[in-house]
Amino acid sequence: MEKGIKIVTIGGGSSYTPELVEGLIKRYEELPVSELWLVDIEAGKEKLQIVGNLAKRMVKKAGVPIDIHLTLDRKAALKDADFVTTQFRVGLLEARAKDERIPLKYNVIGQETNGPGGLFKGLRTIPVILEIIKDMEELCPDAWLVNFTNPAGMVTEAVLRYTNHKKVVGLCNVPIGIRMGVAQMLGVEAERVHIDFAGLNHMVFGLDVYLDGVPIKDEVIRLMNDPNNSVTMKNIANIGWEPEFLQALNAIPCPYHRYYYKTREMLVDEQEKAATVGTRAEVVKKLEDELFKLYKDPNLDIKPPQLEQRGGAYYSDAACNLISSIYNDKRDIQPVNIRNNGAISSIEDDSAVELNCIITKEGPKPIAVGDLPVAVRGLVQQIKSFERVAAEAAVTGDVNKAVLALAINPLVGSDKLAKEIVTEMLEAHKEYLPQFFTEV
Ligand code: G6P
Repeated sequence: MEKGIKIVTIGGGSSYTPELVEGLIKRYEELPVSELWLVDIEAGKEKLQIVGNLAKRMVKKAGVPIDIHLTLDRKAALKDADFVTTQFRVGLLEARAKDERIPLKYNVIGQETNGPGGLFKGLRTIPVILEIIKDMEELCPDAWLVNFTNPAGMVTEAVLRYTNHKKVVGLCNVPIGIRMGVAQMLGVEAERVHIDFAGLNHMVFGLDVYLDGVPIKDEVIRLMNDPNNSVTMKNIANIGWEPEFLQALNAIPCPYHRYYYKTREMLVDEQEKAATVGTRAEVVKKLEDELFKLYKDPNLDIKPPQLEQRGGAYYSDAACNLISSIYNDKRDIQPVNIRNNGAISSIEDDSAVELNCIITKEGPKPIAVGDLPVAVRGLVQQIKSFERVAAEAAVTGDVNKAVLALAINPLVGSDKLAKEIVTEMLEAHKEYLPQFFTEV
């Protein structure tokens, strides 16, 4: 009998794990996973137990022979893995709350993947990802790394640039969320909608939209003018687009584009929320507490619907579809983060981009886009520069590079401000940024 698939999930104690388990259960016939190893660190031990036991109940109820292993020993888990998925948060939600709150003091957007928050999440995460890759090279060199950890674009960029591990894919639920949103607007099944995605992670545009192969972008843009229709995610304020702007842009923006094209409105919204209900991390903390209370219930053996309150909706479909298409050599089209290889001509070949790819056993093959429309090209390139300089800062621990990265970021717009924010945030996150504090 053929050996079943071994999947290792780093950050296995995450509240999102039931999503993944549900996806694996649903696809068991085409994706026969025999072992799912959920790995976490000492600080996440209790959550790992709770979510791991729920995962065990879920597979038992479904009657599928997936063995769930829970461990704090990453190396033991990685041995001979076929796929490694990453969904961890260095510094937990407390660090995210700082990423969100500190910039607000400087009247700069506080968000976990954009601006200063994105920079600092990257600085904390990239060294850990590089260590995981080192372990993978030793213990499962042929395994695919499917990274869901934010900032997913910057992390993919760092892996491509600073390691020799080629089998890496960055994954995000934003494109699938847009497709679902558009399908809903049109009142049709998502399978009938195809979107040509291109750009970067959390900076991706739908350049064309088709319904059953017929171009329908103009109609979608018209529908998006109705604020009730504007596609968004649970973690991003649903502020409607100006119809004139959308029409002229002539592309479908992603929910995160609001931070760039509605910077003022989003800043006001975030400041108001921070002063009332709390920042997103603080809201999520409460949601997580509720979720873990539910997960603890020994009678719960399915993914609870309350998980849909999180921004990561469809995460399971994105991750499991990708893994299944690689495993089964499906050659279907999925938007992922991967080495550009000339697909977007205005981005370097060796940089990470998010775009539609054909998913094969040898990995995702990017579908050539040519140049990005002039209206979006500049912003995408600017964010790519930000990501590259930020990744370099994460690897070298060079403070000046961190300041430079932030000064490049359009949400900051001042070298002085960039320096002040970096100085305060470095201190606040000191514990998780040893590369900036260790004497060499
Ligand atoms: C969206 C993004 C993810 C992000 C999530 C945050 O789905 O695409 O990258 O992690 O939102 O959701 P949360 O519920 O944690 O705010």
